[in-house]
Amino acid sequence: MAKSGFQISRVNRSRSDAKRTYDRYSRWYDWISGSFERKYAEVGVAQLAVQHGEHILEIGYGTGHMLITVAKQVGSTGKVVGIDISKGMYDIALKRVQKSGVTDRVKIVCGDAVILPFESNTFDVVFMSFTLELFDTPDIPRLLFECQRVLRKGGRMGVVSLSKKGSEGVVTRIYEKLHSLFPKWVDCRPIYLAHILNENGFQVVKESMQFMFGLNVEIVVVTNP
Ligand SMILES: C[S@@+](CC[C@H](N)C(=O)[O-])C[C@H]1O[C@@H](n2cnc3c(N)ncnc32)[C@H](O)[C@@H]1O
Repeated sequence: MAKSGFQISRVNRSRSDAKRTYDRYSRWYDWISGSFERKYAEVGVAQLAVQHGEHILEIGYGTGHMLITVAKQVGSTGKVVGIDISKGMYDIALKRVQKSGVTDRVKIVCGDAVILPFESNTFDVVFMSFTLELFDTPDIPRLLFECQRVLRKGGRMGVVSLSKKGSEGVVTRIYEKLHSLFPKWVDCRPIYLAHILNENGFQVVKESMQFMFGLNVEIVVVTNP
């Protein structure tokens, strides 16, 4: 991952710091970033073409909007499972699931995704948006190993993330500076998403780039070969 040409910043805060930060953010998250990031998460979900009856895992579900979207897509015969480290996010997402009337097919847990508490070959689809890029560099392969383990062979994974690919612009540089100055608060950093997924044993099947206020957002679908 640290090969020349694909350098990314480290994330200088612990995963328990992440839990504390997102617990604090949770009540405001939909206002702060949810409302402008959500449309990219929706594109990522659309790219996965989720089918009726599928079993889906979302990592870092935040306030739970995408849990509801995929719960409607899998229908009453499907299952959606979510894991998020923040109890604040869990509480908000749980209310949203209950209000949306999809408790029959959605189960969420609060935990650290670096060790997924699920059996191997369990899911048809794994999804995460604006989450992979907040794992520190050594934790990314650990998380992706776990994703591969719980995905069935031939299963799909959709990832939406801030991207460093082709983004040497001033906004990215300012963002990275803020990330280095305030690692607990600006904990995401742009990564080379398709490259990282490919390096960790996934096969890239769809790749696109979108733009969010001068920051690149990479949306990639891979399969577990
Ligand atoms: C930037 S938010 C994105 C939320 C949502 N996916 C979205 O697109 O709005 C990142 C989410 O990942 C969760 N998270 C951070 N570290 C985690 C970890 N180690 N395991 C599980 N979830 C984690 C945070 O609590 C937060 O809800």
